[in-house]
This record gives sequence, C-alpha cells and structure tokens, in this order.
Amino acid sequence: MRFLLLLLILHISYSSAARAISEHRALMAVKSSITNDPRSYLSNWNATTPLCSFTGVTCDHTGRYVTSINLTNFNLSGTLSPSFSHLRFLRNLSVAVNQLSGPIPMKLSALSGLRYLNLSFNVFNGSFPTQLSQLKNLQVLDLYDNNMTGEIPVSVTELPNLRYLHLGGNYFTGHIPSSYGLWEHLEYLAVSGNELNGKIPPEIGNLTKLQQLYIGYFNTFEGGLPREIGNLSELVRFDAAHCRLTGEIPPEIGKLKKLDTLFLYANLLSGSLPPELGTLKSLKSMGLSENILTGEIPESFAELRNLTLLQLFRNNLQGQIPDIIGEWPELEILQLWGNNFTGSIPQKLGSNKKLKFFDLSVNQLKGPIPPALGNLTSLTDILLFDNELTGFQKTFRKHDFVRDIAVSSPSELPATPAIAPATAAITPTTAAITGISRVVVVSQATMEFGRIIKG
Ligand SMILES: *[C@@H]1O[C@H](CO)[C@@H](O)[C@H](O)[C@H]1NC(C)=O
Ligand SMILES: *[C@@H]1O[C@H](CO)[C@@H](O)[C@H](O)[C@H]1NC(C)=O
Ligand SMILES: *[C@@H]1O[C@H](CO)[C@@H](O)[C@H](O)[C@H]1NC(C)=O
Ligand SMILES: *[C@@H]1O[C@H](CO)[C@@H](O)[C@H](O)[C@H]1NC(C)=O
Ligand SMILES: *[C@@H]1O[C@H](CO)[C@@H](O)[C@H](O)[C@H]1NC(C)=O
Ligand SMILES: *[C@@H]1O[C@H](CO)[C@@H](O)[C@H](O)[C@H]1NC(C)=O
Ligand SMILES: *[C@@H]1O[C@H](CO)[C@@H](O)[C@H](O)[C@H]1NC(C)=O
Ligand SMILES: *[C@@H]1O[C@H](CO)[C@@H](O)[C@H](O)[C@H]1NC(C)=O
Ligand SMILES: *[C@@H]1O[C@H](CO)[C@@H](O)[C@H](O)[C@H]1NC(C)=O
Ligand SMILES: *[C@@H]1O[C@H](CO)[C@@H](O)[C@H](O)[C@H]1NC(C)=O
Ligand SMILES: *[C@@H]1O[C@H](CO)[C@@H](O)[C@H](O)[C@H]1NC(C)=O
Ligand SMILES: *[C@@H]1O[C@H](CO)[C@@H](O)[C@H](O)[C@H]1NC(C)=O
Repeated sequence: MRFLLLLLILHISYSSAARAISEHRALMAVKSSITNDPRSYLSNWNATTPLCSFTGVTCDHTGRYVTSINLTNFNLSGTLSPSFSHLRFLRNLSVAVNQLSGPIPMKLSALSGLRYLNLSFNVFNGSFPTQLSQLKNLQVLDLYDNNMTGEIPVSVTELPNLRYLHLGGNYFTGHIPSSYGLWEHLEYLAVSGNELNGKIPPEIGNLTKLQQLYIGYFNTFEGGLPREIGNLSELVRFDAAHCRLTGEIPPEIGKLKKLDTLFLYANLLSGSLPPELGTLKSLKSMGLSENILTGEIPESFAELRNLTLLQLFRNNLQGQIPDIIGEWPELEILQLWGNNFTGSIPQKLGSNKKLKFFDLSVNQLKGPIPPALGNLTSLTDILLFDNELTGFQKTFRKHDFVRDIAVSSPSELPATPAIAPATAAITPTTAAITGISRVVVVSQATMEFGRIIKG
C-alpha cells in the first residue's frame, strides 16, 4: 500500500516535471526562431532559469504552466515558431511591435485555450491560416499592420467568441464576406487599410454589439453605405473615410445614438446632409469633407452641442452657416472652406471659448468678422480668404500679431501664391518661406493680410 502510494506520488511528480520540461523545451525552440534580440530580452531564456522566470512569461498559480507570453515591443527579428503550440495552457500571446516575419504558423490552432492573440506591428506575410478557426475561445485577434495577403479571411467567422478583430493595414483583397454579420459578441471590427473592393454587405448591420467600425483607407468599395448600418445601435466610432463610397449618406445613421465619431470624408458621397444627422447628440467629431454633398446645413444641426470638430470642406454646400454654430460650447475646429456658403459669419462665433482653428475661406461670405473672435485667446489659426469680409484689423487689434501687420507693408509679405489654399497656408514650407509659424489670411483678393507670430 505504502509502496503503491509512493509510486503514485513519483508518477505524479514525474509527469508534471515532464510537462514542465516540454514547455521549457518549447520556449527554447521559440527562442531559436528569433534571429535578433538587440536588447537581449531573451537572455534569461536558458537551461538554468526556471521557465516561469523568463522575461515576458507568466505561469498559472501552480507555477507549472505558461499562461501568458508578452513580448510586446522587444524589437525582435525572426519568425513565429510553431512550437508555441506545445504551451497547452496559453491564454494570452502578444508579439506586437517587433520585426517578426514569415507566415503565421497554422499549428497555433492547437492552442485551444487561447483568448488573446496580438501579432500587430510586425511583417508577417502569407494568407491567414484557415486552421486558426479552431481557436474557439479566441476573443481578441489583432493583425494590424503586417504584410498579410490573400482574400480577406472568411474562416475568422468561425471564431464565435471574438470581441475584437483587427485585420487593418495589410494587403487583403476581395469583398467583406456577408458572414461578417454573424458574430454575436463582436465589439470592434477593423478592415481598414487593405485592398478590399465590392459592396459593403448589409449583414454588417447585424452586429448588434459593435462599438467601433473601421472600413476606410485604400479600400475601394462599390456603391455606398447600406441602410442597415443604422441598426448598429451600440456604435461609438465609425470611420469609412477614403474608400470610394458613392450614393447618399443613409438617413438611418441618425439612429446611432451613441455615435461619438463619424468620418466619411474623401469619398464620392452626394445628395444633401440628412437632417437626421442632427439627432446624433453624442457626436464629438464629424468629418464629411471632400465629397460632393449639396444643399444647406440642416437646421437640426443646432442640436449637435457636443461637437468639437466639424469638417465639411470641399463639398458643394450652400446657404447660410447656421448661427447656432457660434454657440456650440465645445467647438475647437471648424473647417467649412471650399463651399458656396453665403451670408455672413455667425456673429456669435467666438462665444465658443474653446475655438482653436477655423477655416471659412473660399466661400461667398460677406460682412463683418464677428467681434467676439477678437477676445479669444485659444485661437491659433484663422483662414478667411476668398470671401468678402470686413473688419479684420478692428477685430484683432488686441492681438500682438495685428501690430505686426500694422507695420508690415504688403511688399514684406510673402508672394501671394505661397499662401494659396487653406490648409497649405500652415505647412512647414510656408512657415520657412515667411519665417512665421502661422498665417492668417482674410482676403487674398484685396491683399489684406494678417500674421500670427506667437508660437
Ligand atoms: C541564464 O540566464 C541567467 C540570467 O540572465 C544567467 O545568470 C545565467 O548565467 C544563464 N545561464 C546560462 C547557462 O547561460
Ligand atoms: C504586454 O506588456 C506591455 C508592456 O511591455 C503592456 O503595455 C501590455 O498591456 C501587455 N499586454 C498584455 C496583453 O498583457
Ligand atoms: C531595433 O532594432 C533595429 C535593428 O534590428 C535597430 O536599428 C533599432 O535601433 C532598434 N530599436 C530599438 C528601440 O532598440
Ligand atoms: C491577458 O490579456 C487580458 C486582456 O485580454 C488581460 O486582461 C490579462 O491581464 C492578461 N493576462 C496576463 C497574465 O497577461
Ligand atoms: C496589440 O498591441 C499593440 C501594441 O502594444 C496595442 O497598441 C494594441 O492595442 C494591442 N491590441 C489589443 C487588441 O489589445
Ligand atoms: C514572405 O516574406 C519572405 C521574405 O521576407 C519571402 O521570402 C516570402 O516569399 C514571403 N511569402 C509570401 C507568401 O509572400
Ligand atoms: C512588406 O510589404 C511591403 C510592400 O509590399 C514590402 O515593401 C516589404 O518589403 C515587405 N516586408 C517584408 C519584411 O516582407
Ligand atoms: C442579417 O442581415 C440580413 C440583411 O440585412 C438579414 O436578411 C438577415 O436576416 C440577418 N441575419 C440574421 C441571422 O440576423
Ligand atoms: C435593420 O435595418 C433595416 C434597414 O434600415 C430595417 O428594415 C430593419 O428593420 C432593421 N432591423 C433591425 C433588427 O433593426
Ligand atoms: C456631452 O458631453 C458631456 C461632457 O463630455 C457629456 O456629459 C454629455 O453626456 C454629452 N451629451 C450627450 C448628449 O452625449
Ligand atoms: C458655387 O456655385 C456656383 C454657381 O452657383 C457654381 O458654379 C460653383 O461650382 C459652386 N462652387 C462650389 C464649390 O460648389
Ligand atoms: C471682449 O472683452 C472685453 C473685456 O473683457 C469686453 O469688454 C468686450 O465686451 C468683449 N467683446 C466681445 C465682443 O465679447
């Protein structure tokens, strides 16, 4: 009996030692696939150090099994070893921010307990291994900024517990699969910065838990945004800029009551601004610039009192700039240049005490510059040229830079073309030419210039 017990104890300690050794061996194999470790982070990954003391390695409470490996930002080169697959209790694996290359090993599919996999900011290439759809516990998959190619993976839709999926910044091609609408728990989806095309599937609207959606940049979709986008009732951030969207902005976007950021700039969106956008009371940033939007700013926009950023530049908008914009308390950046706005600048503009940057140039605005602007210490950039405005010097007489204009004869000012269109006016090049950091241009046509010299 005692003998049997001893055997049993021996057996237990032997087998756990064997497991620990095999995990140790697995990590040594992982190390051997690293070709450069310039800061010697892995120097204690050796035969005499217990594996739970290896840099970046965390074990379970028994001290036997590796549960987490975090090699983030170690500046490692080499490849990702298939030997990771022997770490049966691994839950977290991050090798983000290194220079690891080659394929993602399909053997990682053996890590059935894996919940978190962060491979972002490396140069992994090849296509996404379909075998990884076996990682049924995976909640986070971050592949951002790698060199992955091939069709955007469909196999990831077989990961039922995903909450976070970032495939952005790769070279994936093809259409967003309609099965991307099937995740029950997905909160974050990014496919931005790839080479995707085709239609955005309406099924995307079935992701009822989604909080952030990024689909723009370098992708060139066909058609526009599906109306079903409006069903994403938890959405907080939506960025579909620069991806060749056509058609109108679906009014259903007005149903996204939690939306904080809406970026649809640099597309081919047409039609008018849907009044429903004015019901997005949580909105802080709205960027709809560089489209072919027409019509007026809807009156309903008066409700967008939390906006800090409004960009509508380079569209075909017209009509008056609503007075209410002058009262939005949080407004910091207002860029409406390159439209056909008429009437005067809202006279209350400047009662928004946080206003930093506004650009209303290249419109058809007339009349006086609002006096309240002259009291604003937060202002850094003002661009008003190509309008018919008056009262610049009067408004800004208290600002130091205005005194400088007073002593500047037009011949001391940079040649007019150097200050050409709006954003170009504050480029480093212009600053180098003029020796100043910021430029205020009221009206090129009348050669009435102002300069800001402070900081
Ligand atoms: C293993 O690493 C530790 C810590 O860096 C070091 O003190 C020890 O000398 C190393 N052992 C071997 C065999 O290289
Ligand atoms: C990994 O380590 C970095 C610090 O080096 C830390 O910021 C990050 O949160 C860790 N990641 C995980 C998943 O534990
Ligand atoms: C990372 O490694 C590269 C060479 O592989 C080196 O040029 C660079 O300075 C390193 N960066 C840091 C922060 O160690
Ligand atoms: C594993 O990752 C999760 C985030 O997904 C984090 O909360 C947890 O602290 C990590 N565990 C370890 C041991 O790094
Ligand atoms: C992955 O790691 C990078 C670099 O540390 C980090 O910025 C990113 O937030 C991580 N992804 C997730 C989902 O935690
Ligand atoms: C991955 O990159 C390596 C070089 O870094 C290259 O030899 C290999 O052909 C690439 N594989 C694919 C599938 O692009
Ligand atoms: C990643 O892809 C880019 C663009 O195709 C290429 O220039 C670069 O060499 C690739 N890097 C590696 C390490 O394969
Ligand atoms: C998902 O969305 C599509 C199109 O919007 C719809 O026809 C379908 O019934 C939805 N599927 C599920 C499972 O909800
Ligand atoms: C989703 O959106 C479509 C189109 O806007 C609508 O007809 C449908 O009722 C919505 N479904 C749900 C579940 O809200
Ligand atoms: C506006 O912003 C404030 C401060 O961030 C916040 O407390 C308030 O809930 C916001 N209003 C809406 C409608 O989201
Ligand atoms: C402004 O309106 C005029 C005529 O009404 C039109 O020719 C011009 O293209 C419009 N400009 C913009 C930027 O919409
Ligand atoms: C600017 O500030 C001065 C002094 O605080 C005040 O008297 C004046 O009414 C203000 N002007 C505007 C237009 O707000």
